[in-house]
Amino acid sequence: MLKIEDVDKAYPGQRRGWRRGEPVQALQAVSLEITRGESFGLVGESGSGKSTLARCILQLEPVSAGRILFEGEDLSRLSPAAMRRARSRIQMVFQDPQASLNPRMSVHDIVTEPLVIHRDVMGLGARQRTERALELLQLVGLGEQHLFRKPHEFSGGQRQRIGIARALATSPSMLLLDEPTSALDVSVQAQVLNLLHDLQQRLSLTYLFISHDLAVIRYMCDRVALIHHGRLVEQGACQQVFEAPRSDYARELLAAVPSIEGIGVGAGAGLSTALRLS
Ligand SMILES: Nc1ncnc2c1ncn2[C@@H]1O[C@H](COP(=O)(O)OP(=O)(O)O)[C@@H](O)[C@H]1O
Ligand SMILES: [Mg+2]
Repeated sequence: MLKIEDVDKAYPGQRRGWRRGEPVQALQAVSLEITRGESFGLVGESGSGKSTLARCILQLEPVSAGRILFEGEDLSRLSPAAMRRARSRIQMVFQDPQASLNPRMSVHDIVTEPLVIHRDVMGLGARQRTERALELLQLVGLGEQHLFRKPHEFSGGQRQRIGIARALATSPSMLLLDEPTSALDVSVQAQVLNLLHDLQQRLSLTYLFISHDLAVIRYMCDRVALIHHGRLVEQGACQQVFEAPRSDYARELLAAVPSIEGIGVGAGAGLSTALRLS
């Protein structure tokens, strides 16, 4: 489904007067493959290159080297029109729904915006787009009464549901979820994670799920890769990586968080409990 081959990404160094600092090597020789219908976790500390990888997949940033294949096509070689079509098949959910939703737009306009951007692929008229918006709101646990409200009228959890509805508008096959619940309170986090889990099953979605929270990854993912300073240090089935880590970095990461039954739970002891209860 998604194959990342030997990807490097360097950002140019910061300009200091008339000189530039050293380039930042954000990704180095990253290779991984995500198969259809699986939920693949990417874990690493802040600054390890997780968001950079997501941006490279969507071609929001060019890679410095390597290839990114989606459904067999090399995304960096697609024409702009073909890339736009590919973008309707891979959508992103961002960490901070507050920052990623335009405060001046109604929920209707936010959720239908991808349908307008991709109208050549989607082929929906205005009335059909509104019907689709209602369908999407129901899918994420909101309703008709929310359709013409603005983002500030919602709670954090509801705003993230709107962000998820927007990501699902074009019926993508894959979602890139970049810390989708990290900005939420623990109890709300559990509800949104349950929703994402449920949607993945119902819509047969493939997930790249980015988090720094091992409890979240453990709950959401089949396989996981650990990233450290832009390099993948370990990848494998969640159970294997969490219970019998092979790399020193994985052992450190697991040791650094309190553990329940050998499961690293990060800040999420409360979260683990919430997930089991719901
Ligand atoms: N636009 C940019 N220009 C220069 N450096 C960047 C840019 N975006 C990210 N970086 C650097 O690349 C590294 C990886 O960042 P990022 O992918 O955002 O990490 P993460 O999402 O894991 O926290 C960091 O050192 C960060 O400072
Ligand atoms: Mg990030």
